[in-house]
Amino acid sequence: MVTILDKTFVPLISRSEIESRIAELATQISKDYEGRCPFFIVVLNGAFLFATELVKNIPLNCEISFVKLSSYAQTHSTGKVREIIGLEEKIAGRDVIIIEDIVDTGLTMAQLLTQVHAQLPQSVAVATLLHKPEALQTPVDLQYVGFEIQNRFVVGYGLDYDGIGRNLDALYVLA
Ligand code: IMP
Repeated sequence: MVTILDKTFVPLISRSEIESRIAELATQISKDYEGRCPFFIVVLNGAFLFATELVKNIPLNCEISFVKLSSYAQTHSTGKVREIIGLEEKIAGRDVIIIEDIVDTGLTMAQLLTQVHAQLPQSVAVATLLHKPEALQTPVDLQYVGFEIQNRFVVGYGLDYDGIGRNLDALYVLA
């Protein structure tokens, strides 16, 4: 059990379960991209631990770049638009794999995918550690999913509650 600020969290997925599942994803990606040089886009802050564990298990030549999404939200006709910050490399013609911590409503990933596709990569895939299928509000194609979980708030392994908890080496769910 862990306490963060005013909330109590209980264990959901252990460090060893997480690491062995990530190793399986890495093996699958290594097979799928054999002979290619994928370009990983890691979405900060949440995906930092997942990305570290994933890429060190992928023995391919690859490039890794870290991006953030703008925290301010511009209001367009479509609603709140968060822009990718920090992608300096050209991804046109590349095999892109986006690494995310969690796909919840899917709205963030849908926006990210639109912005990435606009740069004309050869292919785009998504690797997410967690997915809450019940929370999905827009269809998104997810090629590599670590764990499908219930629609409950989780922390640890990169994910935070109000900025705290990212360093926990396992996943915890709100009690
Ligand atoms: P979406 O746009 O609703 O899919 O949300 C994506 C973002 O919300 C993730 O990248 C996380 O930063 C955050 N998020 C969603 N669910 C959780 C959770 O259970 N714990 C911590 N952060 C979450």
